[in-house]
Amino acid sequence: MLKLGILGAGNIATKLAGVYNFLRNEIEPYAVASRSLEKATAIAEKFNFAKAYGSYEELLSDPAVDVVYIATPHSHHFEQMLMCIEHGKHILCEKPFTVNEQQARIVFEKAKARGLFVCEAVWTRFMPCVKRIREILESGELGEPRYIEASFCAPISFKERMALPELAGGALLDLGIYPLNYAMLYFGEDPVKITSAAVLTDKGVDEHETFTLQYADGRMAMLGSSMTAFGGAPARINCTKGHIICEKMLVCEEIVIEHGNCVIRTEKFPFEYNGYEYEIRSMIKAIEAGKCETEETPWSTTLNELRIMDTLRAQWGVKYPFE
Ligand SMILES: NC(=O)c1ccc[n+]([C@@H]2O[C@H](COP(=O)([O-])OP(=O)(O)OC[C@H]3O[C@@H](n4cnc5c(N)ncnc54)[C@H](OP(=O)(O)O)[C@@H]3O)[C@@H](O)[C@H]2O)c1
Repeated sequence: MLKLGILGAGNIATKLAGVYNFLRNEIEPYAVASRSLEKATAIAEKFNFAKAYGSYEELLSDPAVDVVYIATPHSHHFEQMLMCIEHGKHILCEKPFTVNEQQARIVFEKAKARGLFVCEAVWTRFMPCVKRIREILESGELGEPRYIEASFCAPISFKERMALPELAGGALLDLGIYPLNYAMLYFGEDPVKITSAAVLTDKGVDEHETFTLQYADGRMAMLGSSMTAFGGAPARINCTKGHIICEKMLVCEEIVIEHGNCVIRTEKFPFEYNGYEYEIRSMIKAIEAGKCETEETPWSTTLNELRIMDTLRAQWGVKYPFE
């Protein structure tokens, strides 16, 4: 069984440690590393990981670790993935994979040269609803899909990693990445036109933004995010004969299908645990099959996603100090 190590002992690392514990018949929750041994130990004890390390280097030097889950601020993903690759570890890295396309290309080149698995943990791409939504759209039941509306608003600007340019802060890379992936999943990764507007904070990162992706055949996606307002993550795929409503794009356990404006049915996709189990299972399957990427989030998708976010940030003049 693959042995899993976690880098970082913060918010999402704690949540995922619970998922790895739940999946212990499929992957071994083995080690947690933090710059604070106390924090690593607390997570390891709570979720039955065998080892706790007080530095990332120690975890990466442990030959028993097969795969590393990176759960640190965006700004650190690139450097930490390079460290993992140097130590011959497979990687599941939190979103955004890196802060820009150029960094991601370097990671993929190095991982390819070593035959290592690497994947961006955009967990929404792996959920069971995705396959079903694609089936409904392809079936023609709702006519032609023409227009997507999706957003993610959560008041988390108080977090240091959201506020500071040196930690690659801003709404887009943390929140807007989800509506972007929603559009990419159902309308594709090759918009012909990208337009946008953003309000920047006094530190020069995006507080909120709206952006539209226009496709060659006239389909359009209207997307956005805010790190100062409540709003959740609703999404709709509007088609010529009806639409699909997804009240909670992030925890999508239910969709509503309407013909015209009449509700026809609700379809449910209850999670087995909390929804993160699907990306982890996909990772295990790929690594065990000797593959370097997943079907749900191939490397090309991550590059396309980052290229679009690079374009948006260039439109607003948001550049991080280390770029
Ligand atoms: N998939 C999801 O649903 C989801 C949800 C939330 C976040 N995320 C992603 O996960 C990543 C981490 O988010 P989070 O909310 O877990 O962050 P967090 O709790 O603020 O920080 C996570 C860890 O990163 C390290 N860290 C924090 N600030 C740092 C700094 N200034 N310099 C160096 N290291 C620092 C710390 O590691 P030590 O333990 O070593 O001190 C901390 O425990 C982000 O990329 C975010 O986009 C994903």
